[in-house]
Amino acid sequence: MMNIILLTLAASLALLLLGLILYLLFPRKYQSGDSVARSYDDWTNDGILEFYWGEHIHLGHYGTPPRKKDFLKAKEDFVHEMVRWGGLDRLPPGTTVLDVGCGIGGSSRILARDYGFHVTGITISPQQVRRAQELTPPDLSVQFQIDDALALSFPDASFDVVWSIEAGPHMPDKAQFARELLRVLKPGGILVVADWNQRDDRCTPLNFWEKLVMQQLLDQWSHPAFASIEGFAELLEATGWVEGTVITADWTAETLPSWLDSIWQGIVRPEGIIRFGLIGLIKSLREVPTFLLMRLAFGAGLCRFGMFRAVRANDSAQSIQSMSNQIAQMSSSIH
Ligand SMILES: C[S@@+](CC[C@H](N)C(=O)[O-])C[C@H]1O[C@@H](n2cnc3c(N)ncnc32)[C@H](O)[C@@H]1O
Repeated sequence: MMNIILLTLAASLALLLLGLILYLLFPRKYQSGDSVARSYDDWTNDGILEFYWGEHIHLGHYGTPPRKKDFLKAKEDFVHEMVRWGGLDRLPPGTTVLDVGCGIGGSSRILARDYGFHVTGITISPQQVRRAQELTPPDLSVQFQIDDALALSFPDASFDVVWSIEAGPHMPDKAQFARELLRVLKPGGILVVADWNQRDDRCTPLNFWEKLVMQQLLDQWSHPAFASIEGFAELLEATGWVEGTVITADWTAETLPSWLDSIWQGIVRPEGIIRFGLIGLIKSLREVPTFLLMRLAFGAGLCRFGMFRAVRANDSAQSIQSMSNQIAQMSSSIH
């Protein structure tokens, strides 16, 4: 009996060590949009992420205060919570929505099925578009296409709602991302974004350990940088296309259980090991340190889960605003 326990312990330690070595030897650093597309193509083709995370490549919402919940149910709940928080549940069926960085279309399908919206989902990964199309019943008003969030192929003012979950950290130019999100929104339309953010480091710069953790979080999942909640809200407002101010919220507490739950899925669903074999097991173990670092970073305040809501100003309101800005500038230069 003792021998079996010792053997199991030794095997677990060896696997852990192997995971750590692979983790440090093969980071998936951001290089360009192509490297992001390649990462998501791989994650889609091997099916492991979908097996454990389901149709939603985003964190779950565990309630306020958070309570124990099924991992996949928490992800679906997230979409409904975001709809309510954004006020989208008051919009009529037929509302047009652009889902920016749509993954394999989990949110897009809920928005079409449960709210009657006409949804267009875009992602930079061709394999995600293929899989999203496979998963979508023909009677749902959802279409998917490859597109770059930094240079969207849609004309100005195309959609009633622009929606995006956890795509922002992949954008090297956050100001351009903010502009594109608002450019394709119709005047009076609503933008709702949910994203991983870093704490605002303009007053207190990141210390040595925080920099080290952030670097791993960036390098492991093809992220060029995380914005801060405050910084991204300012970038949205700086486009001059926001009516009033951007509303933000911090959903770190509501989403925090997702990180350890992601690891827990690997333990409570051992059929994944049979399905994906040794390679699958190694690939899954390789992600464990990033999940733990994410939990650490979000739990310690280094990272924050940011929510953003903005209404697109109509052009006359925008010109009045820019005219009053000019008048304010002129009068300050006169005085
Ligand atoms: C973490 S996943 C989130 C997917 C989806 N929103 C969901 O919640 O299931 C990030 C998504 O952003 C997409 N993405 C990253 N960079 C992009 C870009 N420049 N243009 C369009 N999509 C991009 C990825 O392809 C992926 O679908």
